[in-house]
Amino acid sequence: MSTFQAPKGTYDLIPPESAKYLAVREAIAAPLRNSGYGYIETPGFENVELFARGVGESTDIVTKEMYAFETKGGDQLALRPEGTASVLRAALEANLHKLGNLPVKLWYSGSYYRYERPQKGRYRHFSQVGAEAIGAEDPALDAELIILADQAYRSLGLRTFRILLNSLGDKECRPVYREALQNFLRGLDLDEETLRRADINPLRVLDDKRPDVQKQLTDAPLLRDYLCDACKAYHEEVRELITAAGVAFEDDPKLVRGLDYYTRTTFEFVHDGLGSQSAVGGGGRYDGLSEMIGGPALPSVGWALGVDRTVLALEAEGVELELPASTSVFAVPLGDEARRVLFTKVTELRKLGIAADFSYGSKGLKGAMKSANRSGARYTIVAGERDLAEGVVQLKDMESGDQRAVGVNEIVAELESKLG
Ligand code: HAM
Repeated sequence: MSTFQAPKGTYDLIPPESAKYLAVREAIAAPLRNSGYGYIETPGFENVELFARGVGESTDIVTKEMYAFETKGGDQLALRPEGTASVLRAALEANLHKLGNLPVKLWYSGSYYRYERPQKGRYRHFSQVGAEAIGAEDPALDAELIILADQAYRSLGLRTFRILLNSLGDKECRPVYREALQNFLRGLDLDEETLRRADINPLRVLDDKRPDVQKQLTDAPLLRDYLCDACKAYHEEVRELITAAGVAFEDDPKLVRGLDYYTRTTFEFVHDGLGSQSAVGGGGRYDGLSEMIGGPALPSVGWALGVDRTVLALEAEGVELELPASTSVFAVPLGDEARRVLFTKVTELRKLGIAADFSYGSKGLKGAMKSANRSGARYTIVAGERDLAEGVVQLKDMESGDQRAVGVNEIVAELESKLG
């Protein structure tokens, strides 16, 4: 192992690529900020209990993938594998739900950790932007979140993603379905581990990707046929609201999610250009989670979009993001006097909000011009002793290659008018 190697399943974000990640985070956050969601940040780790109770003790995330550890002080902690349980915990701790302003709408952006088998699009450290609307049962809220995610992806230029929609029922109808599914699964030819899963978490078996399992599931009972009237009506209204907003979706009665807290509306955003790790985002309603972690009844809904996979999806579609130039003006001083003068000019430009950079480390003209080219700057200002003696600097347009002298005292205003 080389000292310079990031841990397995992780990677570094390095310029210029890293700018894409910032742009993706920004594009996902923009519609949320515009829709009443406030920014929340929670710690990178929590008491392991929160995830065991919240995400679910029978999920892969908790049983196999959690980075759990004991601190020197004896606390049992885990790096967060997802954001929903933490955000709800934080909202309860700050009593946000008691301020008389439900739903509490929050958005977040950060790193999450799952000890998964790494492959393209599946990492042990990854990044999500998420949104949670806590404390209201209203189909319009579910619809709002789906519409905002759609808007975020479209604003980035993504086109070939699909929205899969399902309802997982509630505490009235799901247990009835669960039993029917269990009875069905027990009659199949399944290996021991899968049978055990059928006992603990039968809905997860529907998500088994192996063809021999899938083949046997063709006639499996569907939750759709077991939904109670209240869940049916709720789901129908969500569908109608999304349809009215012009957002296309597909009903996927077999959609289950890898976390146990979901009730009623569940959805996933998938991109077909990504191979097996096709989910670029997902979410749904979690009406029972607050009670599961010891809080009051607070019906809620949310989603998280994967930043890493969204970047991969953009690449798969060949979308080039319009990223702001990181440097507009590059200064190349030739000699000590020019260094002092141009350094001052660069500082002035930066104060005006113009992205400017400087040739550091006393390179020769050739090396400095190479740096100017690499910086992507639209203009370069070059000055040597002779220029300064004449009271000018050379302004070079890097696109046309034209170069002309501009007065030292005029150069900042000149660049401001060109770039402003
Ligand atoms: P999730 O489906 O587990 O849901 O994760 C959401 C998204 O995070 C996935 O669709 C995927 O894009 C990305 N993601 C998950 N695991 C990985 C990984 N190992 N490598 C790369 N990307 C990954 C949740 O986390 C829920 N908390 C979403 C939610 C919010 N539900 C309600 N509110």
